[in-house]
Amino acid sequence: MNKTLTDAFGRKIDYIRLSVTDRCDLRCFYCMPEGFKDFETPEQWLSFDEIERVIGAFGRLGVRRVRITGGEPLVRKGVAELAGRLHRLPGIDDLSLSTNAVQLAKHARALREGGVSRLNVSLDTLNAELFSRITGGGKLNKVIDGLMAAREAGLSPIKINMVAMKGVNDGEIEAMLEFCMEHGFTLRLIETMPMGTTGKAALGQYLSLQEVGKRLGQRYNLVDAVMDGGGPARYKKLANSETRIGFITPMSQHFCETCNRVRLSVDGTLYMCLGQEHNYPLRELLRSGISDEELEQHLIRAINLKPERHEFDEKPEQSIRFMSMTGG
Ligand code: GTP
Ligand code: 5AD
Ligand code: SF4
Repeated sequence: MNKTLTDAFGRKIDYIRLSVTDRCDLRCFYCMPEGFKDFETPEQWLSFDEIERVIGAFGRLGVRRVRITGGEPLVRKGVAELAGRLHRLPGIDDLSLSTNAVQLAKHARALREGGVSRLNVSLDTLNAELFSRITGGGKLNKVIDGLMAAREAGLSPIKINMVAMKGVNDGEIEAMLEFCMEHGFTLRLIETMPMGTTGKAALGQYLSLQEVGKRLGQRYNLVDAVMDGGGPARYKKLANSETRIGFITPMSQHFCETCNRVRLSVDGTLYMCLGQEHNYPLRELLRSGISDEELEQHLIRAINLKPERHEFDEKPEQSIRFMSMTGG
């Protein structure tokens, strides 16, 4: 009989978000504080062998989707090689990557060859000057080059993740949508979440996507749509076009009752929820010589700790990790 992982609320867990580093080559103001230096050190990072072992165990327990994240995953050396190793694991049939695309141009082909198929790219604006301000000095042209290289390499679908912020980039949503239409990308809008001190400070720019949805609905003919992927976005599509828009609304309409994922951080801690601290440290267990069967038992025990939902509204102070530590 095929095994499955089910949490205490009856949710089937079939999607692992794997953070391969907590470092990033950008400093988006809502994510990581300026001058932040408190990164995990290489001895604390899970090695590729250790990652492969954990994902292999998840694969045997019915997990089929793996998304590689960071920080920025492409700052860790050898991610395409790691992708190839994960792609070959039994049970894993959906391998994807979330990146800021700054270094994507040089890695796109190898990632595709390594078995990464779906790609999500964080990009909040097409205005180079604003991009630099939001990201603490990032160069927009690098991201655009990365996107074009990814398309060329055959990564598909490509989704653009845009954190929608009042007074920052809310006037640019239509321009981003036109860009996506032109290039065959999917636009996804995301509400800011109070992750860490940076995320809490960014709540001042919080924009409800319910409002944005209404605004877009007045200008475009939007109809319900579906899209490849296993995440929480709800999709609409422009009538008479293949262009889709996903709405990721953790604040205005949370989606925890259908949550299907857990997160493995670079130091080998399994986090049960983006907005909560419930976790299960695996690194020392892996390094203590446990068997594969024991590892599977630990994963089953860990999944039982998964909380029902985030409490961003009621208890924002509980959400102490920066987004870069868990990778979205
Ligand atoms: P698909 O498989 O393509 O649907 O991917 P995804 O949307 O799950 O992954 P992606 O890395 O693109 O996630 C985009 C953003 O959605 C993240 O950065 C988070 O902001 C948000 N997000 C994803 N998963 C969750 C979740 O489980 N809870 C909450 N609160 N937000 C999430
Ligand atoms: N709220 C919402 N999204 C965030 N991200 C980072 N910090 C936050 C936050 N506080 C998003 C980035 C990227 C992904 C990794 O997480 O824009 O799309
Ligand atoms: Fe899942 Fe937590 Fe995200 Fe809710 S906030 S969808 S429970 S990870």
